[in-house]
Formats: sequence, C-alpha cells, structure tokens
Amino acid sequence: MKFSQQFESRFAEMIDHYPTKRSALVPTLLYAQDEIGYLSDEVIAEIAGRVELSELEVRNVISYYSMLTTRPRGKYNVQVCTNIACMLRGGEELLDQCKKRLGVGHKGTTPDGLFSLEEVECIGACSWAPAVQVNYDFHENLTPATMDKVLDEYKKRGTQ
Ligand code: FES
Repeated sequence: MKFSQQFESRFAEMIDHYPTKRSALVPTLLYAQDEIGYLSDEVIAEIAGRVELSELEVRNVISYYSMLTTRPRGKYNVQVCTNIACMLRGGEELLDQCKKRLGVGHKGTTPDGLFSLEEVECIGACSWAPAVQVNYDFHENLTPATMDKVLDEYKKRGTQ
C-alpha cells in the first residue's frame, strides 16, 4: 500500500505529536480517505498496522463516524441535513430536490461518479439552516432553487 509523500509527512508529524499511536487513527483515516476516495480493505489493514490496532477496531471506529466510508463515493459528497432546525426550514425539500436533480437516493452515487448523496444528522450549521455540506464546504440558508445552483456549480467544476 503506497500513499503520497504528503500523506506520509502528515502521518509522521501526527505520530510525533499524539501520546499514543491509536490517537492518530481518525485523522489518519480522513487523510487516507481524501487521498484514495474511500477506506478500502487494503487501506484499513495498512492503517491498523501503523497505529497498532486490529482491523476490527479500525472498522468499529469507521462505522461510528458518518464522514468515513468503506464504499467509493462520488467526487462530490452532498450531505443534506434534515435534523430539526433544517427540517423546520426546508431541509427535506432540499433533499427531495437533490434526489430529483441527481437521480439517486440516500447513499446513492450518480453513474458518472460525480455526486453521491446522503441524508445526515446535524452538521453544526443550525443557525444558518437549512444547510448542506459538500465534501468540506458548507452551503447555508438554501432553497430548492439555490440548491440547484450549488449542484450546477459543482457539476461545472467537476467536468472542467
Ligand atoms: S439541524 Fe441542520 S445543521 Fe443543525
């Protein structure tokens, strides 16, 4: 299993700073996921060895965090919050709009691999509800019409 030099530098720095190797698990998984696209069996085995945990322990951590995935996702992972604040301000309509526009349901990925869609719990942007997170970017105070514009923008970016 070979990661980039950037990954290796980050990993080396983290291992130096955390009191135990296992403390570096979640950020290491995130860096690996950003680089490979998802946490494959090979990635899990490699990281488990590096932080001195069993593969089962690593899988248990992955299953706890919704931002970590063992399945390939689209280039842009659209996470629509339908928790209480967002639900009251139109989160479910945004989700319906995304389903319609992308032609996929919860945890689905478009055939071109550009988008995946997820309905998620609170993403910590309640004051600006309804909110959507695409990869690491937040989009707030959305309506179905502005949601369309957000998706158009990513589509344009992804196909350039
Ligand atoms: S309820 Fe949607 S961001 Fe908190």
